[in-house]
Amino acid sequence: MEKLVDLISADVARAFEAAGYDGRYGRVTVSNRPDLCQFQCNGAMPAAKEYHKAPLAIAADVAAQLAGNGRYAMAEAVKPGFLNLKLSDEALAAHLTAMRAADRFGVEPDPAPRTIVLDYGGPNVAKPLHVGHLRSAIIGESVKRIDRFFGNRVIGDIHLGDWGLQMGLIIAELRERQPDLPYFDESFEGPYPEAAPFTIAELEEIYPTASAKSKTDEAFAAKAHDATYQLQNGRPGYRALWKQILAVSVADLKKNYALLDVDFDVWYGESDAQPYIPPMLEDLQARGLTRESEGALVMDVQLPEDTKEVPPCILVKSDGAALYATTDLATLVQRERDFHPDEVLYVVDKRQSLHFEQVFRAARKAGIVRPETALKFLGFGTMNGKDGKPFKTREGGVMRLERLIAEVTEFVAKKIAENATVAADDRGDTAHRVALAALKYGDLSNLATKDYVFDLDRFSAFEGNTGPYILYTIVRIKSILARYGGDVAAAALRPASGDAERDLMLALTRLPDNLALAYRDSAPNVICAYIYELAGCANKFYHETKILAEEDAERRAGYIALIDLTRDVLETCIDLLGFSAPEKM
Ligand code: ARG
Repeated sequence: MEKLVDLISADVARAFEAAGYDGRYGRVTVSNRPDLCQFQCNGAMPAAKEYHKAPLAIAADVAAQLAGNGRYAMAEAVKPGFLNLKLSDEALAAHLTAMRAADRFGVEPDPAPRTIVLDYGGPNVAKPLHVGHLRSAIIGESVKRIDRFFGNRVIGDIHLGDWGLQMGLIIAELRERQPDLPYFDESFEGPYPEAAPFTIAELEEIYPTASAKSKTDEAFAAKAHDATYQLQNGRPGYRALWKQILAVSVADLKKNYALLDVDFDVWYGESDAQPYIPPMLEDLQARGLTRESEGALVMDVQLPEDTKEVPPCILVKSDGAALYATTDLATLVQRERDFHPDEVLYVVDKRQSLHFEQVFRAARKAGIVRPETALKFLGFGTMNGKDGKPFKTREGGVMRLERLIAEVTEFVAKKIAENATVAADDRGDTAHRVALAALKYGDLSNLATKDYVFDLDRFSAFEGNTGPYILYTIVRIKSILARYGGDVAAAALRPASGDAERDLMLALTRLPDNLALAYRDSAPNVICAYIYELAGCANKFYHETKILAEEDAERRAGYIALIDLTRDVLETCIDLLGFSAPEKM
């Protein structure tokens, strides 16, 4: 379905032409003076230069052409040469009726849908999932849903950090604690036990302990490095132990992401890219794309047009270990082979931007991705505490995601219990939904690149620019719909009879423009700003209108149709943000 502004632009372009001017001046935008008009066209100003005529006269000529057009209640030329437009209420209602009947509100899918690999989440196995990974999960999930809404094939890949030194640290520490386990016995011929020799809680204690120890204890650090090396070179006991670590950790991660309503299509890890590294390096060397630098193998990625220095991409360290960049390059080899993507989008902390710049350049230079494949980096800022420093728990440690969700849920559960509108049985589910809305909207309503302050009070308020406020608006509408008695789906929209109703209708017509913008820029914050405005219009309409008490049945049905469409749009939008509304709250 054509967007309303495009439809109006086409009318105005035709009017320019009918008046003897070039139609390209007919571009219309939503008015920046809603007190004066709904839409405006500023084309008469540049046209004045071409036609050596006063802009006001041109605007008046165009307005005259629109005078007989039933779509407009007003087409007016005003100084110095604006064309101010108001739709007729009939045309507005007709447009919304078409939107309501269309699939996906008539939002057109991308005419050239792509295959997109979305790299998000990025947790590290055996290390607790912390708030640093929260943003990647929240933003990535929303971007995935938006991209899919526009008809793209999106493969969400969690890209587990499952291959680094943390594995060696855990193995070395376990070896000290339980030296008799068969995993450490080189003469053991298997099979290894099925059950893991640790729980997730133990695993999460082992890693920080080992990591701290390696910083003061050189001998231990050497053992951890050696264990990493042996694991990566296939020592059977270590491979078996690593698989146990992975299994226990992944089970826990799955639980956590399910709690967040975040879902990945593939659970590949850095380890899955390892087999691609040796042939890739061989190929790069054979083609003379690498050089040696102080014992390391590097690839230059500086470009002649650069104004800043971009350091070479280090592929192999002097001790023979492959690096983060090497793994990311090999992962691109794997992704090209498995998915042949048109785009690879990384949702990662913006402090890693140089790393991705290097990787992207190296991948292009080496032809690891096709020239037409887009490589994009969506770098996000830090979630800070009220002290302006990266968010910590009350005790000062890194906040565990599970704990954070539990805390937010507990906080909103109290409010829900106070309101006493929700049956006791449903309170758990309701609190969980409201908590996710608070957490996700609190994050997504900011520009991703910006740091933001995590403020539980503010995020979970039922009033203001918050997720719970949006849910509250939806719930309020649902409760009216439930009490309507008639057939909601059959209720027909009617021309607006008041300002609040008209404003709500106009806000609804702006859905396609906002979704298109959110899609173009991978910017969920655009959707947040839009639904905040829409919810504001809905609440104003609700306060000023006796919806169910309206005596005229057709008009009452019109109100019902309007709020039902509003609910549908709001629910579609929050689904794109990654949360959902309860029935009551
Ligand atoms: N595991 C990494 C970290 O915790 C994030 C991974 C991001 N994705 C990637 N392809 N490098 O920092």
